[in-house]
Amino acid sequence: MFKCLLSAAFLVFGISIIFIAFSTSRIYAEEKIVNQDKNTVVKKDFGKVLVVYYSLSGNTRNIAMRIKEKTNADIYEIKTVKEYSSSPMIYITAKKQMNPKNYPELKEKLPDFSRYDLIFVGSPVWWYTIAAPVLSFLSQADFKGKAVVSFATHGGNYGSFFEDFDKKAKNAKVIKGMEFKKVLKEKEITLNNKVTNWLNNLKI
Ligand SMILES: Cc1cc2nc3c(=O)[nH]c(=O)nc-3n(C[C@H](O)[C@H](O)[C@H](O)COP(=O)(O)O)c2cc1C
Repeated sequence: MFKCLLSAAFLVFGISIIFIAFSTSRIYAEEKIVNQDKNTVVKKDFGKVLVVYYSLSGNTRNIAMRIKEKTNADIYEIKTVKEYSSSPMIYITAKKQMNPKNYPELKEKLPDFSRYDLIFVGSPVWWYTIAAPVLSFLSQADFKGKAVVSFATHGGNYGSFFEDFDKKAKNAKVIKGMEFKKVLKEKEITLNNKVTNWLNNLKI
């Protein structure tokens, strides 16, 4: 009988400890989200926003999704008909595709830019400039006086990315964007603040 009571007491004690630990961690997690939210607020109203991006390994997608969340944007992912290999061969393929004759074929038709007030276009840096799928996209796009903001992700050297973007975004009012180094290795809070501050300070 005594053994039974003792086991029951241990059981209740154990459950209480688990419950307290769970509640505390949840409250902490909620506080963390609230604290992060303070850094997430974008105070500007950009109107109807479109975020266009290409991403091979997730870095540019990460930034594109943050812009989408913070500005309530629509999203358009640039996809190529032929997928890239994950071997070092990609560097050779990418180099060849910088020639306009070899731009990669895109899978989907371009979005209707006329529906948007502001368009973000994001690309990884390939060979110190815009990645071939985005070059292909830009060769087909006519932004007809729309405000376009570029952004790049890279491993340490973004070369002539922004100057090249200015030249290739036809009929756009280009607003110089932002570059992000080694996105997936960056701390969440640093990245979040960088995107928020950038958006809050954009001069449209
Ligand atoms: C073909 C190729 C060329 C690259 N050239 C450069 C470069 O010139 N400078 C640089 O800093 N990073 C370069 N990188 C690294 C990418 O820019 C970087 O990892 C980028 O964030 C990848 O974006 P993603 O994950 O959205 O594809 C290159 C990567 C590839 C695959």
